[in-house]
Amino acid sequence: MPVITFANSKGGSGKTTSALLLACALAELKPTTIIDADPRHPVTTWGKMDGKPDNLTVVTNDSERTILDEIEAASEKDPFVIIDLEGTASRLMSYAISQSDLVIIPLKEQQQDAMAALDVIQEIHRDMKATRRKIPYATLFTQSKAAVKSRTAKHIAMQFRENPKIDCFTIEIFERDAFAAMFTIGGTIRDMNPSKVGGLDKAILNLEGFRDEVIAKLRANREAQATSEVA
Ligand SMILES: Nc1ncnc2c1ncn2[C@@H]1O[C@H](COP(=O)(O)OP(=O)(O)OP(=O)(O)O)[C@@H](O)[C@H]1O
Ligand SMILES: [Mg+2]
Repeated sequence: MPVITFANSKGGSGKTTSALLLACALAELKPTTIIDADPRHPVTTWGKMDGKPDNLTVVTNDSERTILDEIEAASEKDPFVIIDLEGTASRLMSYAISQSDLVIIPLKEQQQDAMAALDVIQEIHRDMKATRRKIPYATLFTQSKAAVKSRTAKHIAMQFRENPKIDCFTIEIFERDAFAAMFTIGGTIRDMNPSKVGGLDKAILNLEGFRDEVIAKLRANREAQATSEVA
């Protein structure tokens, strides 16, 4: 049921990688669909390789004209629906946001990603006005360095984390070989060979933490919504 959209108009902010990681992790729990609306269709290419979990369906989107129908069909079928968007602001992005139970805004700890993330937040607020409903969203730092952070990275992270108006994921997705390797070797990071991919155990822990926080946010949002409906 819940629809989770990954949006940031800045290319390379980590949408596709984080979306596919989450989709695979959720598919371990419940049937999940990922809608591939990135025009390069990286998830569709991945889905044609060996190792895609049976519980995970990949739907390839080709146009803004079909996205709403695809979201409706997927959310009637599966407990989780993930949407990976293209790296530009578009009508397709607004359509997907308008149908979402959670919008995740991935960003690197870099100025351009941060500016684009703020643009997406403004777009979400416009979509809330247009649809007259609350659309929960949260920013997610991706491709973070596991070692020492630069001053810029620390500064950008602090600006988001200390802003009471912006919900930020506590967890960050670290830059890990396993996360990039998925797209070249196919399958999920669970199926990778630890002797061939460095830091696999840490990558798995990182991903499980991300999945847990997503589920906690969906739950908290649902409870907040139920309370506001009763009030
Ligand atoms: N956590 C990570 N660890 C290692 N590499 C990563 C990670 N996240 C992203 N990358 C790499 O960074 C590049 C950009 O990531 P990705 O394709 O996920 O971004 P995107 O936001 O979907 O980009 P676009 O806007 O072009 O669709 C890719 O080469 C990907 O392999
Ligand atoms: Mg992408």
